[in-house]
Order: sequence, then C-alpha cells, then structure tokens
Amino acid sequence: MGGMDLGEAEAYANLVNVASTGYAPSLRIVPGDPAASVLWQKVTGSGEFGLTMPPNGTTLSFEELQTILDWIEQGAQDN
Ligand code: HEM
Repeated sequence: MGGMDLGEAEAYANLVNVASTGYAPSLRIVPGDPAASVLWQKVTGSGEFGLTMPPNGTTLSFEELQTILDWIEQGAQDN
C-alpha cells in the first residue's frame, strides 16, 4: 500500500532521494535532513503528511525511531 516497497532488498531504492507519490515534490528521505523527509514526518505523526505510519494501530518504539533518526542524520547510507 502507498506504492512503496519497504522490503529489505527494495527499500533503499524506494526511499532515498525519491519523490513521494502522495506529497511530491517532497522526498521520502532527504539525507541529513529528517525534518524534510516524508518518512520521518509520517513515523513521528507530525500530521503534515497524512496518516501516521504504521497506520494499523502499532507504533514504532523509541529505539526504532532513534535508529531511523540517526540513520537520516548520518547521511542515509546504504548500509
Ligand atoms: C513502519 C512501517 C511503515 C513505514 C515506515 C511507512 C512509511 C510510509 C511512507 C513514507 C509513506 C508515503 C509514501 C509516499 O507518499 O511516497 C506511506 C504511505 C502509505 N502507507 Fe505506509 N508505512 C509503514 C507501514 C504501513 C502499513 C503497515 C500500511 C498498511 C496497513 C501502510 C499504508 C500506507 C498507505 C495507505 C499510504 C498512503 C497514504 C498516506 O500517505 O497517508 N503503511 N507509508
């Protein structure tokens, strides 16, 4: 759903410097800039970019959010 494959092999090519389908011209992930990254806005529920992710009643843990934040801030490397 959402036209985006987050599978391990596909996720990077679907995220980093890729235009959002729902919120173009914003990018899904902007290396070094969490606030400009649609994914970060959606997992933190800012409300600026539609539904909070994941939308099925679960939420990411503090540790998972910190991992995503660190990864984006450190340049969103393909590692
Ligand atoms: C932690 C897991 C998830 C993350 C990180 C995530 C991330 C995202 C992102 C970044 C978008 C925007 C895509 C774009 O506009 O290009 C999006 C959209 C969407 N996702 Fe997710 N998602 C997650 C889980 C899920 C799940 C489990 C579902 C369905 C049960 C789902 C359904 C949708 C739908 C329907 C949209 C389009 C509507 C919208 O943007 O608000 N997502 N998701």
